[in-house]
Amino acid sequence: MKEKFFEGSDFGKGEFKALMPAYYPKKYKEYIEEETKLLKAKLAGENKVLEAGVGIGRLIPCLSPIVKELTGVDNADLMLQKSNEIAAEFSNVKIIRGELENLSNIFPERYFDFSICIWNTLGNVKDEVRVLRGLSRVTKKSIFITVYIKGTLKDRENWYKSVGIPISRIDKKNEIFYSESGLRSKSYSLKDIQKIAKASKLKIKDSTILAEVILWIELGKR
Ligand SMILES: C[S@@+](CC[C@H](N)C(=O)[O-])C[C@H]1O[C@@H](n2cnc3c(N)ncnc32)[C@H](O)[C@@H]1O
Repeated sequence: MKEKFFEGSDFGKGEFKALMPAYYPKKYKEYIEEETKLLKAKLAGENKVLEAGVGIGRLIPCLSPIVKELTGVDNADLMLQKSNEIAAEFSNVKIIRGELENLSNIFPERYFDFSICIWNTLGNVKDEVRVLRGLSRVTKKSIFITVYIKGTLKDRENWYKSVGIPISRIDKKNEIFYSESGLRSKSYSLKDIQKIAKASKLKIKDSTILAEVILWIELGKR
């Protein structure tokens, strides 16, 4: 089934609540606040930054003023339309249609100082290792990722309810949620990320848990 989730099928003509923190339960609002603080601290400066999976462009107004260049990649029409509308207000932002599995064919090697792949974007892709290998090739310094941490099934159920995403199946053993609209969203332990990082020839430089529900990881070359 072609995934309709990021084309907005759960929200009709309404807002894409899944990427709008105003609609989130408390813990997820806190997660977003903590993540935004970290991103600002890590990315500020004369840096070229890639956001892999830019979504509706939620972070553009916050990151564009503090970096040299911000590039967002996405493959969903709705996300590209919305992020382009926001990017038009900032002269140092570019939005590019592309597959996260194909980053090394889109950008020159080591073009970006930093890359970010956040809000569990990694948990939506088919092949995490392929995405991280591509990110590693196009990034000089660190790659920052955030993913759902395992052990938070109840919090996740609550989050999907709050933003209005009908869930069709939960694989409780592996902690994967499936929506009627085709979303498949995984969660990870630190050990899972260690394995994926190793297979991608990356190492974990730092990690922390945000608001009890999200794992923040800084990855760098081995
Ligand atoms: C969970 S959203 C996160 C959006 C944004 N980073 C944020 O924090 O608000 C994931 C985004 O990645 C995009 N995406 C998922 N898989 C992709 C892929 N294989 N190639 C390109 N974009 C992808 C989706 O369309 C969506 O916009």
